[in-house]
Parts: sequence; C-alpha cells; structure tokens
Amino acid sequence: MSYKQLVAEKINSALTQLGVEDFSTEKVLDMLETPPNPKMGDVAFPCFQLAKALRKAPPMISQELAGHIQDPLFKEVQVAGPYLNFFFNQHAVTHNVIQTVISQGSAYGDTNIGQGRNVPIDLSSPNIAKPFSMGHLRSTVIGNATANILSKHGYQPIRINHLGDWGTQFGKLIVAYKKWGDEEAVKAEPIKELLTLYIKFHEEAEHDKSLEDQGREWFKKLEDGDEEAKHLWQWFRDESLQEFMKIYDLLGVSFDSTAGEAFYNDKMDRIVDLLEQKGLLTESEGAMVVSLEEYDMPPCLIKKRDGATLYATRDLAAALYRHEEFDFAKALYCVGGEQRLHFQQVFKVLEKMGYDWAKNMHHIPFGMMLKDGKKMSTRKGKVVLLEEVLAQAIHDVKQVIEEKNPTLADKDAVSRQVGVGAVIFHDLKHFRLNDINFSWEEMLTFEGETGPYVQYTHARACSLLKRGGYVPGGEINIVEGALEGDESWAVVTELLRFPEVLERALEDFDPSQVARYVILLAQTFNKFYAHVRIVAEDEAVKESRLHLVAAVIEVLKEGLRLLGLQAPEEM
Ligand code: ARG
Repeated sequence: MSYKQLVAEKINSALTQLGVEDFSTEKVLDMLETPPNPKMGDVAFPCFQLAKALRKAPPMISQELAGHIQDPLFKEVQVAGPYLNFFFNQHAVTHNVIQTVISQGSAYGDTNIGQGRNVPIDLSSPNIAKPFSMGHLRSTVIGNATANILSKHGYQPIRINHLGDWGTQFGKLIVAYKKWGDEEAVKAEPIKELLTLYIKFHEEAEHDKSLEDQGREWFKKLEDGDEEAKHLWQWFRDESLQEFMKIYDLLGVSFDSTAGEAFYNDKMDRIVDLLEQKGLLTESEGAMVVSLEEYDMPPCLIKKRDGATLYATRDLAAALYRHEEFDFAKALYCVGGEQRLHFQQVFKVLEKMGYDWAKNMHHIPFGMMLKDGKKMSTRKGKVVLLEEVLAQAIHDVKQVIEEKNPTLADKDAVSRQVGVGAVIFHDLKHFRLNDINFSWEEMLTFEGETGPYVQYTHARACSLLKRGGYVPGGEINIVEGALEGDESWAVVTELLRFPEVLERALEDFDPSQVARYVILLAQTFNKFYAHVRIVAEDEAVKESRLHLVAAVIEVLKEGLRLLGLQAPEEM
C-alpha cells in the first residue's frame, strides 16, 4: 500500500463517521495533493469537493475531519483553512516501510488489479529474412517491460512474437532463391544472404517485368499450400528465427507464442466472410476494402485485386483469434509510431463489425532511435548491427570492470548483465514516444542516469550488507536516532512511492516511469550513503541502518527486474 493510499483510507473512514458514504477511497486518493513545500506537510487533502455533500464551508469540514483522524503514523494532522495537511511521524513511517518492504520482498508493490485476466501483448515481431531493426529492439524491450509490469499487477501477459512471415515478399524471395540462391550461403549467414537475394530481385525486376508476376505466382502457391513453396518458406523462417534467438537470448526475453502472420493464413476466409455478411466490404479499383470515410481515414485494404490478403487482414484475423483464445481484458500492440494509422484502421474495422471488445485494444506506439539526428537504420547488407551494439556494450563494460575490479569472479557473466542492461535501460529511461539519441557515453557510464549506475548502486548496497555482517530474517528494530536525518527520510519516501509509480506505469503502459524511479532511488540512496556512517560503531544503530539498506536492495532489484535487467550482487 502506498502512503497516499494509507492517508486516503484514514480520510475515508473519517468521512464515514461524518455520514458521507459516497466518497470512495479511490476518489479521495485522486484528490490528495503533494504540498509544494514540505513545511506544509507530506500530503494535503483539499476539502472543496465535500462542501456540497456536507453542506458546509470547506474550512469547517477540514476542522471536523481532523477530529476524526488519529494514527500513530501521523505526527500531526493540521488544519490549514480548507486544507488538511498530514505530517508523518518519521520514525513510525520509517519502521513501517522497512518492515513492509523486507517482509514482502519482491512482492512489494504487487496488486491484484488484473485479477488473473489475460493480456496478449504483441511485441518484437521482426520480419523473416530481413534484419532485426532498432524498431524491433525497442518493441522487444518496451513490450517485455510492459508485460512484466502487467504481471506485477495480477494480469496474465501473453507475449506474442507476431513474426512478419507472410506476404508477397516471400513469393519474390522464393523466385530469387531458385534463380540465384545458394544453400550453403543461406545456412552460413541466413539473414544477410536472404536480404541480398531480396535486393537482387528488385534490381533485376527493373528490367525483367516477368519477375514480379512470378513472385506473385509463388506467393499464391504458398498460400495454396504448395509443397515446394512451403518447404522453402519454412526453411527461411527457421533460419531467420534462429538468428533472432541470439538477440532474444542476450536480452533475456522469451515468448509464449511465435505465431506470426502465416499462422492466420487459414483464418483469413472467415474474416472476409464476416465482413461480407455484415455488408462492410466494398470494391475499390478491383480490390476489396472497408470504407472508413466517416472517421476521416483511408479505407482499410482487405484483399488485393489478385485475391491476396494483406497485413491488415492478418491483423483482423489475429484480433479475432486472440479474443476467442484468450478472452482478454486488454490486447496490446507494442509497435512503432509509424503504424499508428494501421492500428486505428484495424480497431475501427473491428468496431464496425460490432465487436465492443475492440475498445480494449491498444496500440502502444514509440518513437525512433536516432544517431546524429538521423534514423538509425540497419545499413544495407550489414545485418548484424544489433548484435554488434550488444557485443560492443558488453565489451566496453568488461574493460571498465577489468580496470576497477580485476579480481571479480565471473567477469564475463557480469559484463553481459551490465552491458545488455545498459542497452535496455538507455531505451527505457526515455518516455517511449520521444525519439532517442543513441549515445554510447550516455548508455555506459557508471555515473550518469544509466542502467550500470543503478546496477552499481545495487551491488554497492549488497557489499555494504556483507561488510556490516547483516543477518537477514531477524526482527526489525529501528532505534531512535539511527534514521532521523533528511537523507534517510528521503530514501524512505522514495521507497514509499514505489507502489504508486508501478500503478502509473501500468495505467500509461510506460516503463520509463519505473526507470526514472530506480534512478531517483539510487541517487537518493547514494546521498544517504555519502552522509551517514552506515556501518556504525553502535551495533543497534548499525542494524537499523542496514535494514534500510536491505529494503533499498529489494526495491532496486525488483525495479530492475521489471525493466528486464539483472541485478548482480557484485560488479
Ligand atoms: N512485422 C511488422 C513490422 O516489422 C510488425 C508487426 C507488428 N504487429 C502486428 N500485429 N501488426 O513492421
């Protein structure tokens, strides 16, 4: 429970005593404010909205409420005109939060908002036979963290890698492979080789118009289940997926399903029939479309002139499938902002089909990764870019470790955790809609607002516990005077804030709030560490302070876990 929630509950029971029944704790929670100045308390409650229910002036109401609120966690409940200002009893709150965090461990901040309901989340979803782009990396890490946050709140996320493994390009690829391909070359470097073939196809098609037709024919064969076409397609898919797996393994991301676009091939007629039955299909230049004129959107393309289905058709079939399979509370799509219109169209078509669950579908868009102000794209033929970025980060971290902590055990594993963590954190600390400037320095420094900084703070706190001979599991005693200063209170208030941050991160599908939070907690903790002699002479004082350190460790570790980062105990 967050401290605001605690205040809200006290106010709520006071309101009940005054005879006000229709103010829920949630509503009170929404009304609570953080005073601009700590001299005005830790939390403030404005009484204006109660004037009507109680038929009294707000200053009178705050006066009466104050009389009904007493709790050892408050040092004072002050009436300031129409406001009620709450001052915490720092000692009691400190003890309370440390106790809560240590006893709950990684479950601190858990809620049951999701009540076990399913949430399919579409993430990563690279295209077979094409390089894994920066956009796919963003989708992977944002989607994975969002899924972690969902399960923190009691939802059951279902991670779906909706692979781009269907479409006319596979017809072209088959033609290109049959004409110019080489099995060994594809096996050695699948994505690079397939990309080369694909590029060659387009170059040749400039002068040889028949190629495009052959491509279409082969895709048609594929759609109709031709053995040779299917065999080649399966092979391209397997090889590509194996390449992508290297990246997923490094990132520590796994999927519940890799049912990509092809999976919906046999589910497409149904969606077309349904659209037909509902009278939503119209013809436009030989193609079948659903008009979205009333929403000022271009029509949604369902079938091409040659009968081939499209990206949107497959997303419609996938939506129906996910709804039937999972009976979802929400369905999420973590896909770049360039596809905003596509998802608006898909959701609108479902709405027009009469599916009211379409309102529970959300596109979670994000911005671009820029390098020197330009879109960071995978250079032609140079396809291992992302693996290179990860490898470079791991390499650089290893050098820092060699320098700073040469005797560290398991240097390679730690370098991997920190290097990969740096890349993930660099992405997640920015609000997802903002474009990000790719910067090695900003990513890797142990001092700035980075993953390594938070991980390092965590490791430092762990070694402090060891140095102080901390024994976990004992009774939690906080002696007077041990945790009294501004520095420790700042840490305590940060710890209190964690559950609230997690709820907002859930509401906004926004892992960056968790990233900003762990940075702040790490900074606040480091200030405490710099100002207070934690491993003090006095045994009881030392114990008390180490309890706070142990609580910080729990929350940093959990925050990092939610973002998809490891928290090594030494680095
Ligand atoms: N494969 C697509 C691309 O790379 C992304 C797919 C996103 N998911 C979806 N259900 N449309 O652009």
